[in-house]
Amino acid sequence: MQQSRIKDVLAYAAGQSGIRVCGWVRTRRDAKGFAFLELNDGSCLANLQCIIDEGTQAWQALGGVNTGAALSLCGDLVESPGKGQRWELRVSSMEVLGLADPAAYPLQKKRHSDEFLRTIAHLRPRTNKYGAIFRIRSEAALAVHDYFRNLGFCYVHTPIITGSDCEGAGEMFRVTTLKPGEAGPAAEDFFGRQAALTVSGQLEGEALACALGRIYTFGPTFRAEHSNTPRHAAEFWMIEPEAAFFGLEDNMDLAEGLVRHVIGHVLSRCPEDLALMDKYVAPGLIASLEGMRSSFARIPYREAVELLRGSNAQFAYPVEFGTDLQTEHERFLAETYFKSPVTVYDYPKSIKPFYMRQNDDGETVAAMDLLVPRIGELIGGSQREERLPLLERRMAELGQKQEDYWWYLDLRRFGSVPHSGFGLGFERLIMLLTGAQNIRDVLPFPRTTGNLEF
Ligand code: 4AD
Ligand code: MG
Repeated sequence: MQQSRIKDVLAYAAGQSGIRVCGWVRTRRDAKGFAFLELNDGSCLANLQCIIDEGTQAWQALGGVNTGAALSLCGDLVESPGKGQRWELRVSSMEVLGLADPAAYPLQKKRHSDEFLRTIAHLRPRTNKYGAIFRIRSEAALAVHDYFRNLGFCYVHTPIITGSDCEGAGEMFRVTTLKPGEAGPAAEDFFGRQAALTVSGQLEGEALACALGRIYTFGPTFRAEHSNTPRHAAEFWMIEPEAAFFGLEDNMDLAEGLVRHVIGHVLSRCPEDLALMDKYVAPGLIASLEGMRSSFARIPYREAVELLRGSNAQFAYPVEFGTDLQTEHERFLAETYFKSPVTVYDYPKSIKPFYMRQNDDGETVAAMDLLVPRIGELIGGSQREERLPLLERRMAELGQKQEDYWWYLDLRRFGSVPHSGFGLGFERLIMLLTGAQNIRDVLPFPRTTGNLEF
């Protein structure tokens, strides 16, 4: 018999006889003459209430069935006389697919801490909260693709193994086939030179944008930064659009539009999952997401610094023109001052990578960061330096070897155009959408310093 998913079953307009559902038992309650099972199959937050009457085949099979057991149930979907649900399944037959020993199964019917659940990342998606987070994550990813597709962006795949350090920050994981101990010269390694996992697909993305016009990537990104914070992971997913003939304003519009589109999509497609997060994880979440559907603030870096310096807020790190904004400053701007996402632009060139377009003031570059409440930096991007002499000069100042970037410089030699792009950290977006406070809780199997279980 065909299998129905609980999400669909719960939405049926009329009862149905002879349906089959498969899932995991969330709870079992026994009464006189029958038993209740709450079954969840991951298709949605809600469980299907299943009634097993004494005397049925299912009753015979009920033996060791308890929280965590996997079952296949056949029966009739009927209106539920009980409170709290419209439908229930009157089970006629049951196949036990896999039992779960209640003495050993770690997910019992009580609230577990996020820290404990991280130690059982293989089981935590079976909880309401993590099921909700990963369903929201899926919808958000689809919304990203919708957004770019509707604007005519081509989805491209840039390499994961790379020979160049896009951000120039040196936080790269080495890739090698040399055995430990025989660490010979890089020339003897697999690629005949040093290789690493990519920190960004931007440079290759620029090459594709300077051909296809508008592109985006959406892929895994790796950074060997030791910052043990709630918003940094060693492996995360980044969305990187790049568009030819786009200036900084166009880029800011594109970034803000993306965030708003994904928020709108998730609000309309995941109401139950969001309601759960709002109730138990981040009170006020839905109202705050609704608030982000209108326009965002924008401010030049220079003014943002003045504003921070003039505020009465106590910061652990002082700010002045030329310092990078810390999370506390970013959050102050978005959360306290603007009470909305805010794009800060025109940063000092001294704190930004070589590829950003230099402004006429000689001090700043056409950079933009989108900061959001609760998290801080969600997006980082810029207009790119398309003028060859200026780019070469900046690379020389920063000690970057031109030979290593010959093909990137070619893009400025042949048909160079103004172009812009940005990177959005997908996990940070999921934190914004779900109210989760730690990046470890929005990645199914997070990789951070010292953590490679699963
Ligand atoms: O600001 P970043 O470093 O910018 C770039 O990599 C550019 N090449 C992007 C571009 O213009 N195409 O990173 C972009 C975003 C950040 O704003 C942040 O949201 C996220 O990536 N991010 C991280 N997310 C999780 N863990 C980390 N370690 C992250 N590092 C950056
Ligand atoms: Mg950044």
